[in-house]
Amino acid sequence: MPEHVGPWSASSGPGADVRPGFTGAPGAPVVEVALTVPGAGAAGLLDPLELERAHRHRRSEDVERAVTARALLRVVAARWTATPARDVRLGRRCRTCGPGDHGRPVLLAPTGGAAVHLSTSHSADHVLVAATRCGPVGVDAEEVGAADFDGFDGAVLAAQERDELLRAPEAAHALLRARWWTRKEAVLKATGHGLTVAPAEVVVAGEPPALRGWPSSLETDLRAPVRAHLFDLAPQPGVEVAVAVAVAVLTTGPEPSLRLLDGTQLLSAHR
Ligand SMILES: CC(C)(COP(=O)(O)OP(=O)(O)OC[C@H]1O[C@@H](n2cnc3c(N)ncnc32)[C@H](O)[C@@H]1OP(=O)(O)O)[C@@H](O)C(=O)NCCC(=O)NCCS
Repeated sequence: MPEHVGPWSASSGPGADVRPGFTGAPGAPVVEVALTVPGAGAAGLLDPLELERAHRHRRSEDVERAVTARALLRVVAARWTATPARDVRLGRRCRTCGPGDHGRPVLLAPTGGAAVHLSTSHSADHVLVAATRCGPVGVDAEEVGAADFDGFDGAVLAAQERDELLRAPEAAHALLRARWWTRKEAVLKATGHGLTVAPAEVVVAGEPPALRGWPSSLETDLRAPVRAHLFDLAPQPGVEVAVAVAVAVLTTGPEPSLRLLDGTQLLSAHR
């Protein structure tokens, strides 16, 4: 395991021992989260279809981050399956449309053994990939301040979250909005619903990070009410990251541990 996790500087979240290089207690369930920047990608790793999809973007910076996200997904999936990164096959699966070119990333090959669940989030400044065998995973990142626009609170926050925001010092509002927004998106990516579910119906405010409300009428792949392990991370000042693992029941056993990886270092071996 890499001892160096360069991009990660701070983090929070109960159950998440996120010291650099931490690998979790022996046998503990693990969620890996790899972070890099757009442009670190090893384009040579991508198959022709992945390259073609990445190049559908018009702006070169969007192509660059799509390439990096796809390459990092491959490299992380390769770690989990002990397979050369070039032999990994990835696809996308939408809850509504099924397999195709959009929706959550899924591992198509190699198969066998317990499923490896994957998620990705990318922006102008970061590319993140999460992987685990614990259950469907979601990762999301937002810059603090990105959610500070008119209409956000009404559209995205539940009534009790708006109350909680009003009780918090105003100086903390930008951070709380970004943190709760990433938690909601991480949960909605973990369940695969994305923004087809109103984020205001997913209640995540408060400490410790937890899924406190979910529309029980919604069907999920878990065929049971959704519970989630939820973690906050702060890879650098001004950026909030949340990771969610959807499970049918929250056991009293060990929480999954987070293992933070330097995605730039992982990719450099493939350039
Ligand atoms: C997923 C979503 C919340 C992410 O939005 P975002 O903050 O703009 O983007 P991020 O960079 O954080 O995440 C993008 C990644 O989310 C993943 N993703 C997309 N839809 C997803 C879903 N329903 N569940 C889980 N992950 C999803 C993809 O891997 C995507 O990366 P890719 O484009 O490289 O494949 C939003 O785009 C969404 O809700 N999309 C789906 C809506 C939907 O299902 N509509 C019905 C389509 S028929």
